[in-house]
Parts: sequence; structure tokens; C-alpha cells
Amino acid sequence: MAELLSIILAAGEGTRMKSALPKVLHPVGGLPVVSHVLRTVKAFGSKVAVVVGPDHEAVEAAVTRFEAGARISRQMERLGTAHAVQQARAAFEAAPGHVLVLYADTPLVTGATIGKIVDRLDAGADMVVVGFRPDNPTGYGRLLTDGDRVRAIREHKDATEEERQIGLCNSGILGFRGDTLRAVIDRIGNHNAKGEYYLTDAVELAAGDGRRIDFIEADARELVGVDNREKLAEAEATFQEFKRREAMSNGVTLRDPKSVWFSWDTELGRDVTIFPNVVFGPGVKIADNVEIRAFCDIEDAVIGEGASIGPFARIRGGAELGPDVHLGNFVEVKKSRIGAGTKAGHLSYLGDADIGSKTNIGAGTITCNYDGVNKDKTVIGDNVFIGSNASLVAPVTIGDGAYTASGSVITEDVPADALALGRAHQINKPGYAPKLKARALAKKGK
Ligand code: UD1
Ligand code: MG
Repeated sequence: MAELLSIILAAGEGTRMKSALPKVLHPVGGLPVVSHVLRTVKAFGSKVAVVVGPDHEAVEAAVTRFEAGARISRQMERLGTAHAVQQARAAFEAAPGHVLVLYADTPLVTGATIGKIVDRLDAGADMVVVGFRPDNPTGYGRLLTDGDRVRAIREHKDATEEERQIGLCNSGILGFRGDTLRAVIDRIGNHNAKGEYYLTDAVELAAGDGRRIDFIEADARELVGVDNREKLAEAEATFQEFKRREAMSNGVTLRDPKSVWFSWDTELGRDVTIFPNVVFGPGVKIADNVEIRAFCDIEDAVIGEGASIGPFARIRGGAELGPDVHLGNFVEVKKSRIGAGTKAGHLSYLGDADIGSKTNIGAGTITCNYDGVNKDKTVIGDNVFIGSNASLVAPVTIGDGAYTASGSVITEDVPADALALGRAHQINKPGYAPKLKARALAKKGK
């Protein structure tokens, strides 16, 4: 296979998003759209060049986070997609093999589609255009074809009424033999409705030189261009659909697939069962045989084999749950390690805690980890029994096998196997209740 260079265009202002955030940083599945494209081309071992805008430090950071070796160039004036490609000249002039151009706002393009482009180039095409048939082609460029060749791409704004009837649209993803790109890129002009240098004009120029321009067609949902919030929602919906299918085909049961939301990096084991209305943020790894019941929100968490979570649990901040942990309803776990077989069945907040195995955390237990300034740690050993409605005031350590009485405010360390009582003693006053009631009635004037 010839060496690949991928030029990713990310310099557009994205005015149609009406956002302070550059368009290509809007997330799909929790990951900026530009990063999706990067991941896809990286899987082909491609070299990467990214063109960003002049004020796009945040875009640069998102790029280098995934691909430290990416060659970044800046397009100081946004004069169009061909002008953007010219900014990556140093990269494409030296490219010995094929050059792909991808738009950073087209995040869902699959490896299968990239593979088809490369195959066509390897088979002798000088250029490959990826076409698709969206439900609504308005705004996209149209492919003007002759049989199985493309002779031009006409931008929507420049198209005649007749050309606008064409359903086959340009996804923006182009494959070039390196010499073809170098032969046409500087001949592209800007005589069009927007006065921009359109990369799409490369087709007509290359065709005029007698070069062979193939097209392939891919799934329209894969090629949605995120130009506005509506398209962003479309891309998110498609991404989620892809992830749900992937999960199910890997042996995960989704009781109601449509109501489960994944992040780009969610990792699920086999025989995981997920009930309706569960949302995964970034950084979640779930082992085999875990059950996640309805209405859980989980991010940045590792969950061990056989655990059962929820309903209504929230887990976050680098939580690590061991095997067979049970978290029940309205339990929040933040940045805590919980050992094997430990249970927190109801209404708890466990933050900055290190909890051993086979420990029982009673209903309403709160780790008081924050004094308004600092966060402190709660350490709880193995086989501990924390009675209901406990406040564990951190920093505090509770030894293995200890008991804390319910309603306790635990401010001091509890030694192993001790019983800690941190509440007022109960006093019973026999026969006192009727007196109290009489006094209350008198006050009301009865
Ligand atoms: C473009 C294509 C259109 C195609 C559509 C698919 C052109 C002229 N038109 O239109 O045929 O159907 O994508 O989604 O290419 N960019 C720069 N610098 C610029 C202008 C754009 O880097 O000066 C980048 C943008 O960040 C974006 C990409 O290029 O990632 C495409 O630009 P955009 O303005 O979204 O083009 P479309 O109107 O969508
Ligand atoms: Mg676009």
C-alpha cells in the first residue's frame, strides 16, 4: 500500500453554528468532531496534517492530544477549502504516496470508506470522490458524473435548478494521487458565488487534464457535515446508533437501545445488561456480567465484574469499583475506590473514599469530604458495617471489621473491630408525652 497523508481541514469559522466554540470542537459522543476524523485516519497509519484558523489554539490542542506528530499549519485568511489545502503545502509536496483531504466537520466517516478510497487509488484512479445521497441535499455540492466517472462538483450556491435536482452529493472527502493534487491545486480560481477557492474545482481541472476521477458512494448518515446545530444533533444520533449496534454485537443487552447514550470511548464487557435511560460520559470501562439499572449517569469510572449498579446511581471522577460491588438507588460515588463485594444500597454520597471489600455502607451514609476549602479522604477497611445515616467527617479512618452506630457523626478514627457511637444518648421520660400535648393545646387556646 502506498504511503498515506491525510490533510484535515479545520480552519472554517463555522458561522452557521452561531457559537463561541470553533465548529470543529463541538463534541459528538463527547469527543470534538475533529478528533473523530483524526482517530479514523490514524487507524490507517496515515501521516496527518491539519489546517487550523489563526485563532485556533484550542483546536491545535485537541489535535495534538490525539496525534502529537500532526503537522499543523494555519490558514490566516479563510479563503476557501482549496486555499486551506495550500497551507499544508510542506506536507503534500513531500508526500510520496496518496493524499486524502478530509473535512474536520465530517466526523463519522468510517474506516471502511477510507479503505475504499485507498483501494481505488491503488487500482489506478487519479482522484476519488466520496459521494452520498442525503435526505436533504440543500447546501451540499453535487456530483456531475459521466457513467462511473466524475467530471465536476458543483457547489449548491453555483448550481443551476437542474443541477440542484441531483441527489448525489459531495461528502468533501477526496482521495488524490499525490501528483494529481500537486498538478491542480494552484490552478484553482475563485470565480464563484462565494468568491472562495473551492477544493471541489480540483475535479474539473483534473478531468480536463484527462485524469481518471472515480467516485464511491457511502452511507449518508456516515457523511453528515456538522455545519449547524441541527446537523450536530443528526451526527450525535447516528453516532449513538452506531455505538449501540456495536455494543449489542459485542454481547451487551440494551433493554431499550434508544435511551442509552454512550461516549466515544465507552468500553463494555460481555453479558453486561443495561436498563433504559443510562448515560455514559467519557472514560468508562465496564467488565463482564455487570448490570446497570435504569437512570444511571456514569463517567470516568471503572466497574468490576459482576457489579450491579442503580437504579439512579451517579458514578464519576475516577471511581474504581471492584467485582460484585452493589450500588443501589440514589448513590453517588466520586473519586473513590470500592473493594469487592461491598454494598451501598441506598442514598449515599461516597467521595474521596477508599473502601475495602465486603463492607456494608448503610442508607444515608455521607462522606463529609469537603471543608469548604480542602478535600479529605475517608478510609474504610474490609468487613466494616457503617450504620445508616452516618456522617463520616474526613480525614477519618475506620478499621477492618468495625461497626459504627446509625446516626453517628464520626470525627475520630475507629480502630479495627471497635463499635463507634457518635450520637447523643437517648433519654426516655415515662408519661411525658400527654403533658407535652396538653401544653401545646393550651398555647393554641383550646
Ligand atoms: C463543503 C464542500 C461541499 C460538500 C460539503 C460536505 C467545498 C467548496 N464545498 O461545503 O461540496 O458537499 O463540504 O460537507 O469544499 N475550511 C477551512 N478553510 C476555509 C474554508 C473551510 O479550513 O477557508 C474547512 C472547514 O473548517 C470545514 C471544511 O473545510 O471543516 C469544509 O468547509 P465548510 O465551510 O463546512 O464547507 P461546506 O459549505 O460544508
Ligand atoms: Mg461543512
